[in-house]
Amino acid sequence: MPGPARIVRTAAAMQRLAKEWQAKKLGVGFVPTMGYLHAGHVSLMQRARKAVGAKGLVVVSIYVNPTQFAPTEDLSKYPRDFARDKKMCADAGVDVIFAPTDKEMYPEGFSTYVIEEKLSRSMEGASRPTHFRGVTTVVAKLFNMVLPTVAIFGAKDFQQAAIVKQMVRDLNFPLRIIVAPIWREADGLAMSSRNKYLSPAQRSQAGVLWLALEQAKTAVAKRAVPAAQLTKMTSWLISTQSETRLDYVEFFDPETLAPEKLVRRGTQMALAVFFGKTRLIDNAKL
Ligand code: PAJ
Repeated sequence: MPGPARIVRTAAAMQRLAKEWQAKKLGVGFVPTMGYLHAGHVSLMQRARKAVGAKGLVVVSIYVNPTQFAPTEDLSKYPRDFARDKKMCADAGVDVIFAPTDKEMYPEGFSTYVIEEKLSRSMEGASRPTHFRGVTTVVAKLFNMVLPTVAIFGAKDFQQAAIVKQMVRDLNFPLRIIVAPIWREADGLAMSSRNKYLSPAQRSQAGVLWLALEQAKTAVAKRAVPAAQLTKMTSWLISTQSETRLDYVEFFDPETLAPEKLVRRGTQMALAVFFGKTRLIDNAKL
């Protein structure tokens, strides 16, 4: 069995360690998370290990980043369980957990942000206007602290992964981004730390996001279908469940995120659905 992961709390200590690894030319695979880990996160850790090999290092950051939450959102209620996270990281063979404090990440006088200006306008960016500014800022900071050779992001947050890839290109971060597949529950619900908020009634209806993706996949399997028609089909399917409210559904090019009027096989679909105050997202290549 692998031993427990070393826990690092400060940016300075993380950078010192990262520079030692860099001097030894060791591969460093990095998985940024907000904790409350689940099997989806673990699959990213395994992907990181595969990328850097037995001699490389796998680093997981656990940090609930305040700048990506709007004042109205669930920052203070975001689920946390560091003891459980530690155990899961140890079992997954993680070498280092980087878990900085807010003071360490955003000390008094902090005033520099990283903003991606094209891919971050639609979908999650339209529903949560300051969200991606917080994500790109914290991910850039984490990259500068961990100095990874490769970083793993989940396709669950498809737009986030696309924006991070763009940032890495635009700002010349010397690392490779891998996007790993979505891990799902038996009924198709994408694993998420936020699933914990669902009431039993809401949980039993939450598989409808997956059904909506499957329905669209079937619809475009043999012929192209107008996005407007698929949007109608999707809103109808979502509305069959009493606890739901559709936030958005989009059909777009997986590379540029540009909306597609005519949807075919290979078009990316993403949707966001409210269950009470809980907002779930999912996506798939059709
Ligand atoms: P968090 O929601 O904790 O997710 C961390 C990583 O796990 C992200 O790359 C996300 O896409 C991936 N992930 C979540 N659920 C998954 C699933 N079911 N299958 C596969 N991968 C999954 O995303 C964030 O944190 C934050 O925005 C962060 C990037 C850490 C910046 O604060």
